[in-house]
Amino acid sequence: MTGEIERVLFPAEEIERTVVNMGRAITADYAGQDLVLVSVLRGSLFFLADLARAIDLPVTIGVMAITSYGSRDQSGGVVRIIKDLDEDVGGRHVLVVEDIVNSGLTLAYLLKTLRARNPASLAVCTLLDRPEQHLVELPIRYKGFTVKDEYVVGYGLDYKQKLRNLPFIGVLKSI
Ligand code: PRP
Repeated sequence: MTGEIERVLFPAEEIERTVVNMGRAITADYAGQDLVLVSVLRGSLFFLADLARAIDLPVTIGVMAITSYGSRDQSGGVVRIIKDLDEDVGGRHVLVVEDIVNSGLTLAYLLKTLRARNPASLAVCTLLDRPEQHLVELPIRYKGFTVKDEYVVGYGLDYKQKLRNLPFIGVLKSI
């Protein structure tokens, strides 16, 4: 599996340290509040699972599935919810957990949808951020790492639906 990797960007230990620190910050910031972690399938599942265990609060976990119209580049952020949250987030503190923010269009759509449900607060936690590609301004409250314009895989991130289960994040060999 590692034959497809050009180089390791973030080893498993570094990811673990970062996620633990993010969990600590979230624990301090949301102490005593009703927190719902909201994630979108599938890339963020690995991060969500580790982050949730690094948060020392009784959190609720909600999962959504969405699909974009056409290819991501052409979708213009128009996405459709194919599995909605089972939880009512009205009056609760919502933290959206993402694996990566590229253009930010998926997140912008998601935030708009969630805001309409009147949460007590709405914030974003992403493991990876690619600020050079942002097309919209986003309220990212917690960020793990910044990445450049390279194809990254592992720890949830895929290439053609494979390599998500690499324990580290690496750069894909050019194809
Ligand atoms: C990835 C990632 C974000 C989105 C970010 O999902 O999980 O949801 O792309 O891109 P954007 O900022 O340009 O909108 P992807 O569609 O690759 O699906 P996956 O989570 O199943 O890998």
